[in-house]
Amino acid sequence: MCGHRRTGHDMFEILEELPPDPILGVTAAFKRDTSPDKVDLGVGVYRDEEGGTPVPKAVVEAERQLIASQTTKSYVGPVGNVEFNERIVALALGPLASKLASRTATIQSVGGCGALRLGAELVRSSKPDALIHVSDPTWANHEPLIGSAGVKLERYPYFDPARQAVAFDKMHDYLGRLPAGAVVLLHACCHNPTGADLSEEQWLALAETFERRGLVPFVDMAYQGFGDDLETDARGLRMLAERVPELLLALSCSKNFGLYKERVGALAIVAKDAKTAAAIATHERRQARRMYSMPPDHGAAIASRILADVSLRKSWIDEVASMVARMKSLRVLLASKLAERMPERDWNWLNQQRGMFSLLGLTDVSIQRLRDEHHVYVPPDGRMNVAGISDQNVDYVADAVTALLK
Ligand code: LMR
Repeated sequence: MCGHRRTGHDMFEILEELPPDPILGVTAAFKRDTSPDKVDLGVGVYRDEEGGTPVPKAVVEAERQLIASQTTKSYVGPVGNVEFNERIVALALGPLASKLASRTATIQSVGGCGALRLGAELVRSSKPDALIHVSDPTWANHEPLIGSAGVKLERYPYFDPARQAVAFDKMHDYLGRLPAGAVVLLHACCHNPTGADLSEEQWLALAETFERRGLVPFVDMAYQGFGDDLETDARGLRMLAERVPELLLALSCSKNFGLYKERVGALAIVAKDAKTAAAIATHERRQARRMYSMPPDHGAAIASRILADVSLRKSWIDEVASMVARMKSLRVLLASKLAERMPERDWNWLNQQRGMFSLLGLTDVSIQRLRDEHHVYVPPDGRMNVAGISDQNVDYVADAVTALLK
């Protein structure tokens, strides 16, 4: 008994406990599991062979320099760190960034999630009846995050589970029939959760369709550098940005800079002209001010320093390259272990897919059994974080998956 008199008007009494978050709940359940065999293939964080998520050396050094040189903790303002904003957009858009600079309104965000939400808020305030089309399937938090801004959502066909590849004809056909002004959320690279990315030819075909039909791309680039490399992974985005008059771009430094908990991201909106971009910038700032006022500076200042310093940048690019090499080699390793156990099936798709994720192709019941009987943790959609595999657990994981698929 808490001792308070009940009035019958308790505000929060109406709230009932919610089910766990589909992704973050996996981490909590994994922590509770006492089995010595348990394997965490859940939340999308990079892991090294020991299962740790290290701070990149360039981040450690930039942070050291930053702490040694900072003279104030005064406010940065709703737009955040302006240099960071310029540099992160240049990383994404490459040479196009300066060409589009006068038409681009960028704001620092609270991680990639913050960028997606801000973008959705601005779509809704510009066009209250807007529909945002998202891929089927998509990252488990896309719909809650964007939908909570009050926009309506629809799914476009994306994945063919039988081929473990993009169902491009269906996707293209669907998008080609959308009315002008429709907003389409695209994953720039390392599609989450399928790992199935568009080829360059497919990006080009899409970019032409977006241009011809007047569609608005809303590109989520959370994994730049995790597919092949920083440049290759940005090609699709750049093909779009070259052609369309308007584009929204959500950027994240969580994965490639390993800055997860610092919550570093940016929203860049490319407008049809400089006047519109200037107006958008005021709306971005007002929206941020209304939601959380200003983003935290620390992580953005670190990323900004790394991008501007030749030797830190090189060290960082090398470290991203070694993370990618490890993820690719884990894909090869797991594919070979599964092929040994189930030679009747094709496992090569694991090597063709990109980034941290792939769908195991298990039924809902098997996904639950994977957790309950084998202590291997994946989110309810069956997405596996490939980076959670290691030399130590790969046979165990392959045995568990085989037991469920055979
Ligand atoms: C993921 O997809 O697992 C990560 O992006 C973490 C998150 O926020 O869901």
